[in-house]
Amino acid sequence: MIAQLIETFSQTLSVEIAITTTLKLLHGSYALLVLDSNDPEKIYAAKYKSPLIVGQGTDGITVASDLMALIGYSTDYHALDDKTFLVARKEGIRLFDLNNESLDLHFKPIELDDQDTTKGEYAHYMMKEIHEQPSVLRRIVTNYYEKEKSLIKPEILESIKSSDRLYILAAGTSMHAGLIGKQLIEKMTSIPVEVHIASEFAYQKPLLSKNPMFILVTQSGETADLRACLVLINEHHYKSLTITNVPTSTLAREATYFLELYAGPEIAVASTKAYVAQVGVLAIIAHELSNKSIDLKKELSIAATSIEHFLESEDILTLVREYLTRRNCFFIGRGLDYHVSLEAALKLKEISYIQTEGFAAGELKHGTIALIEEGTPVIALISDPLINNNTRSNLKEVQARGAKTFRIVMESCKQEGDEVILENVHPLLTPLVMVVPTQLLAYYAALERSYDIDKPRNLAKSVTVE
Ligand code: M6R
Repeated sequence: MIAQLIETFSQTLSVEIAITTTLKLLHGSYALLVLDSNDPEKIYAAKYKSPLIVGQGTDGITVASDLMALIGYSTDYHALDDKTFLVARKEGIRLFDLNNESLDLHFKPIELDDQDTTKGEYAHYMMKEIHEQPSVLRRIVTNYYEKEKSLIKPEILESIKSSDRLYILAAGTSMHAGLIGKQLIEKMTSIPVEVHIASEFAYQKPLLSKNPMFILVTQSGETADLRACLVLINEHHYKSLTITNVPTSTLAREATYFLELYAGPEIAVASTKAYVAQVGVLAIIAHELSNKSIDLKKELSIAATSIEHFLESEDILTLVREYLTRRNCFFIGRGLDYHVSLEAALKLKEISYIQTEGFAAGELKHGTIALIEEGTPVIALISDPLINNNTRSNLKEVQARGAKTFRIVMESCKQEGDEVILENVHPLLTPLVMVVPTQLLAYYAALERSYDIDKPRNLAKSVTVE
């Protein structure tokens, strides 16, 4: 329809004016490239809400929806603003607003290289990214603690402290990281935190406190559901902080403040290292707001080492072959482990297509236990000695109904027969480590089924539609 409109207007107007006339009629989000068969040397590009980036290099001009796509083609990039429109030809680029008034382009160097975007020694990006997690945590420690200037500017902390309630908004894996963030902030400070699914918040805004502050957690920085929330937040002039892996992204640019995850490009659709980075950065924010009784820098380094030791010794494939043979699976846990269960379930279902649920272990008996039958896999996550026995007793309940169970535990909770034992870390940082075996379970389950691990069906890396 857009092409038809442009074609119709161009009967009487120049192509450029035909395009802007069409754009003014459009509602909703778009990222468009337009080619005119009468003048194939030009590319016209325009966007509203969806991302669009133009790159230039010695070989010409490239337009893409993601900075990573420009690597190898361009050396510099300009991220288009909403309702701007460009005309690119070999000799150069011109930028306009929708009234066809000329605008300036601001090119910046692309600071990613091929190494960031190749698989290296790994068969899949997901495996590479799982193995990068210890170095991601260490990079976060270096960048947040060892740089001369603190990345968390005093005004960010002041804005949070002067608010009466924090609202963490996110989707999918990032929302699961947000749930951990809530626990960390509430346990280290006295600031109450709510976590909301972005797509729900945008259209069912809850009753807000008098002086709210919003934290948007997003790997890509382009999630449309979250953008809809930010538009609302900005309309009310509330303060916002985006925590993202992509500093050039729309949500980084449009929030009051942003902080970077430093996870490096995450290419597999299934998010792994970005989750660990999100939990790491949320832990640092919580710590900065607290009385700093924990040596967080040291504790994050211990967590990085614990992940590394697990990755050196893991034998998850055997567990997958023995246990994950069914169409369904359950992860259970309590407290922080419950939130990790949600993430573990999302990871397993999105790449292995096994129907998986994450459950609060104590909640199973209130209905879901009816689904347990002979051979149903139930995986318990246990990291807190205080509730170790409670979760184990829930495990016995499902075992008695025929479930095939196994345990992923922290050393402090280990008992004879536990299948995966992880080196102890600070009790608030267990999610960083507990999640890793569950990522590998998902990976090997998908591998066993010969599925496309990095590009699971029906999914996209940046979800730029609502
Ligand atoms: O880029 P974002 O973090 O905003 O993306 C949110 C979700 O779409 C994303 O976390 C999704 O759930 C992952 N593919 C899960 O692995």
